[in-house]
Amino acid sequence: MTSQSATRVALVTGAGQGVGREVVHQLIRKGVASAVIVNDYVAEKAEAVAQDIRDIGGHAVAAAFDVGDHAQVAAVLQRATAEVGPIDILVNNAGNGGAGGATQDSAPFWESDPTEWQPWIDVNLTGVFNCTHTVLGGMVERGYGRVITVISDAGRVGEPNLVVYSAAKAGAAGFTRAIARAGGRHGVTANCVALGATRTPTTALDGLSSEDERRFLRNYTVKRFGLPEDAAAAIVFLASEEAGWITTQTLPVNGGYSSAL
Ligand SMILES: NC(=O)c1ccc[n+]([C@@H]2O[C@H](COP(=O)([O-])OP(=O)(O)OC[C@H]3O[C@@H](n4cnc5c(N)ncnc54)[C@H](O)[C@@H]3O)[C@@H](O)[C@H]2O)c1
Repeated sequence: MTSQSATRVALVTGAGQGVGREVVHQLIRKGVASAVIVNDYVAEKAEAVAQDIRDIGGHAVAAAFDVGDHAQVAAVLQRATAEVGPIDILVNNAGNGGAGGATQDSAPFWESDPTEWQPWIDVNLTGVFNCTHTVLGGMVERGYGRVITVISDAGRVGEPNLVVYSAAKAGAAGFTRAIARAGGRHGVTANCVALGATRTPTTALDGLSSEDERRFLRNYTVKRFGLPEDAAAAIVFLASEEAGWITTQTLPVNGGYSSAL
């Protein structure tokens, strides 16, 4: 992708670590955004990433909110946009087990406790509604927008140990397609990136033995785990001006995982 000198403002949710953090860096480094609102519900993590960007001469502000809470999203973004301007690029990245920190189901679905379901829905589905709802009107009004929702292969093919997460990600994909169809005539594109197993602090893939890693990668065509850089490259391309003729799509960034099933 050619480097651009855009004057676009981006919001990246769940950007205190992992994929989101790398997206913030690439948006600035590649010139796809001139300013980034760095969200995380952990304020210190959001601030640290925003500071990283300021340290390299970029423009970034931290915005601490829980994506699952619409009132918080709206109030904090009102303050952040007053500082950096209206949002042109939304990366719905916050996900996984959310505030509960769960990384997989504690029991088979048929034995699960229904109280465990809501946190997965809140961050992976309602959070996508809340952030998109808060910024989309402005995008439509200004006739330009990019929405990228980070889903998972779990949402495409189903993951037996992450049943509600799979459902929430599939829901987020359906939502994003519908938003794309509603927004197209207003200059707004919306797409998903579906990740396979990617090394981030949450996935703890570094701790696997080489035997477990080999077994894990059996269905992957490329025999390594993804890196935040792999994910961010695709997300930032879809966020760029050049991707304006791509919408309603889900791009797998997964080492060929689902093609091997
Ligand atoms: N890493 C993978 O293997 C993988 C695979 C498929 C899909 N994904 C998806 O990619 C995205 C990024 O994954 P990751 O592994 O980099 O995530 P991560 O868990 O490492 O980081 C997520 C960040 O989001 C923040 N966060 C969590 N809940 C939040 C909330 N309610 N509001 C605001 N911030 C919140 C966390 O504090 C954390 O800093 C997620 O949507 C995840 O579901 C990841």
